[in-house]
Amino acid sequence: MVSSSNTFSLSLILFLSFSSFFSPSQSHNKVSLELYYESLCPYSADFIVNYLPQIFQHDLLSIVDLKLVPWGNAKLKANKTFDCQHGPDECLLNTVEACAIDIWPQLDKHFAFIYCIEDLALHRKRKEWESCYEKLGLNATLVDDCYRSERGNELDLKFANETNALQPPHEYVPWVVVDGKPLLEDFENFISYICKAYQGTDAPKICTQASYLSTVREVEAKGKHSFCDMERVMSTWNKIRSTIASWTSQMNFLVAM
Ligand SMILES: *[C@@H]1O[C@H](CO)[C@@H](O)[C@H](O)[C@H]1NC(C)=O
Ligand SMILES: *[C@@H]1O[C@H](CO)[C@@H](O)[C@H](O)[C@H]1NC(C)=O
Ligand SMILES: *[C@@H]1O[C@H](CO)[C@@H](O)[C@H](O)[C@H]1NC(C)=O
Repeated sequence: MVSSSNTFSLSLILFLSFSSFFSPSQSHNKVSLELYYESLCPYSADFIVNYLPQIFQHDLLSIVDLKLVPWGNAKLKANKTFDCQHGPDECLLNTVEACAIDIWPQLDKHFAFIYCIEDLALHRKRKEWESCYEKLGLNATLVDDCYRSERGNELDLKFANETNALQPPHEYVPWVVVDGKPLLEDFENFISYICKAYQGTDAPKICTQASYLSTVREVEAKGKHSFCDMERVMSTWNKIRSTIASWTSQMNFLVAM
C-alpha cells in the first residue's frame, strides 16, 4: 500500500520538475530564442531579414540568447553527406553560415554576415553571397577554409543533430523556439513570447507596449504563414487520397441502398 506521505512527495517531485521544465530562464535570467532554418527557404530568409533584426533594435539583446541553427529540412545520407531541400546551393550556404557562426561566435558579427546572405537570397541574388565579406569588411579566409574542409562538414552534422534532437520535432522552417517552446505559425509574433517568458524585473521598454502585451494568438495564427515543409507535397497527396476513399465509400453506400 502506498502511504499518503509517499504520494505527497511524489506530487512534490512532479511539481518541481514540472515548474523547472516550464521556467528554464529563471536560472540565468535570459530567454533563449532559437531559430531552426535553411538558407534558401524564402520564408526563413524573410524572417531573418524582416523580423529577427528587431531584437537588435529594442534593447532586447539584454534579455535574449539567440541561437541560429542552419540545417532545416536537409536529410542526412550515408557517408555523412546530405541532401538539402533547395538543392546544392542551399547545402553550400548552410555550411557557409554554420562556419560563420563557429568562427565569429559573437552574435552581431555572424548575424550581420548571415543577414547579408539571406537578404541576397531573398532578392534572388544568392550567387553573389561572397560580396558579403567585402560589404561587411570581413576576412574571407577563415570561412572559405572552413566550408571547403572537413570542419564545415562537422559543423553541418552538429547542427543536424541539434535539429533532429528537437522535442517536439520541427515540422517546417522557419521553426522558432522560445525557452524550449515552439511558436509554430505564430513565429512572427516572437517578441511577445520573449517578453512573456522573461522572468527578470528589468524588462526592456518594448515589453510594456500594448502590442507586445497582447495574449498569445497561436490559434488565430494557424494558416497565416507560409513555410518550407518537406512533407507538404506528401500530406496534400494523402488528403486527396483520403477524400477519394471517402467518396468511394459513400458511393458504395449509395449503391448498396
Ligand atoms: C561511401 O563512400 C565510399 C568511399 O568514398 C564509397 O565507395 C561508397 O560508395 C559511398 N557510399 C554511399 C552510400 O554513398
Ligand atoms: C585573413 O585571415 C588570414 C588567416 O587568419 C590571414 O592570414 C590574412 O592575412 C587575413 N587577410 C587580411 C586581408 O587581413
Ligand atoms: C550526431 O549524433 C550521432 C548519433 O546520435 C552521433 O553518432 C554523432 O557523433 C553526432 N555528431 C555530432 C557532430 O555531434
